Amino acid sequence: MSEATQTAALSIRNLSVSYGARRLMGKTRPAVQNITFDVGHGETVGLVGESGSGKSTIVKAILGLARASEGNVLLNGTDITHAAGRDRRPIVSQLRAVFQDPFASLSPFQTIGDTIVEALRDSKAGHAAMWERAGDAMESVGLTRADLRRYPHQFSGGQRQRIGIARALASTPQIVLMDEPVSALDLSAQAHVINLIADLRDTQRYAFLFVGHDLGVVRFLCQQVVVLYRGMVMEVGKAELVTTRPRNPYTVALVNAAPIPDPLEQARRRTARLSIAAREKSPLPIAGNGCPFAARCPNATPLCTQTRPALREVDGRQVACHHPA
Ligand SMILES: Nc1ncnc2c1ncn2[C@@H]1O[C@H](COP(=O)(O)OP(=O)(O)O)[C@@H](O)[C@H]1O
Ligand code: SF4
Ligand SMILES: [Mg+2]
Repeated sequence: MSEATQTAALSIRNLSVSYGARRLMGKTRPAVQNITFDVGHGETVGLVGESGSGKSTIVKAILGLARASEGNVLLNGTDITHAAGRDRRPIVSQLRAVFQDPFASLSPFQTIGDTIVEALRDSKAGHAAMWERAGDAMESVGLTRADLRRYPHQFSGGQRQRIGIARALASTPQIVLMDEPVSALDLSAQAHVINLIADLRDTQRYAFLFVGHDLGVVRFLCQQVVVLYRGMVMEVGKAELVTTRPRNPYTVALVNAAPIPDPLEQARRRTARLSIAAREKSPLPIAGNGCPFAARCPNATPLCTQTRPALREVDGRQVACHHPA
């Protein structure tokens, strides 16, 4: 194991997850396959890919909510993949999550204060200390101590998501997992929450795993990016590099799908998208172990349909592709 792996706040090593009863017989295609990446201390890593690519499955496997069929999840070098019951308790306060729909995870019958304090119970802090920490957490997300006495329905969607973040931060975790935290918000609330995450990134030393499908947001927030397609890592590297000079054809397609305010560049990207759409009408047949993007990829050759490309170093980042763009 490399030194980087030992010191990373969170390490995902060759992780595979399959759902369903048939997974035990190896008869279902894994939802995610052979996933490897690190989140360093104080680092913000973005996990991007279209809907169904396996982003939430990775988050669930880290939280112990989905069972890893292969591979490992390490927290500060300690293997937590199959930790359960009493073994999981000390892990939980180090690892906190914020999900897409904050309303669903806040009880309508509890005040915000009771909800946050409940999440602090394992800390063994006294009653007054827990309320003090809950108040500090609310202030760190731009809300007030007085808001602790209010109920979820008294807040807007954006404020509720900030409360979700306050609850995650109150236990001063090392790692915060954010699964599409702004996707359910309107544009102005999105901007507020994204700016809040950027402030926390700059002022605190949390390690963030930020899941999103908007490459622009990921570029703004994250130092590193992991691009997923159908449960496989297609490209990993510095966010600035991967989102401006992508080398995997799938990442190129993701970048081309993002709207930009330059009409000439927008037209070029539209042409590139049409070429992929035309390809989908006459896809190459893919063997079970071919590249998952081969049916849509403008660079695909028969090799791609037969052999899954391994991640390898290309132009300063890791790319899984036989014919990088
Ligand atoms: N509980 C589940 N049972 C069976 N299949 C699931 C379950 N959750 C997710 N999947 C499947 O796993 C794949 C990845 O899903 P998910 O991780 O939710 O993707 P994303 O978060 O990127 O949209 C999808 O094909 C989805 O249908
Ligand atoms: S391996 Fe082949 S099909 Fe897959 S992304 Fe690269 S060129 Fe396209
Ligand atoms: Mg998801």
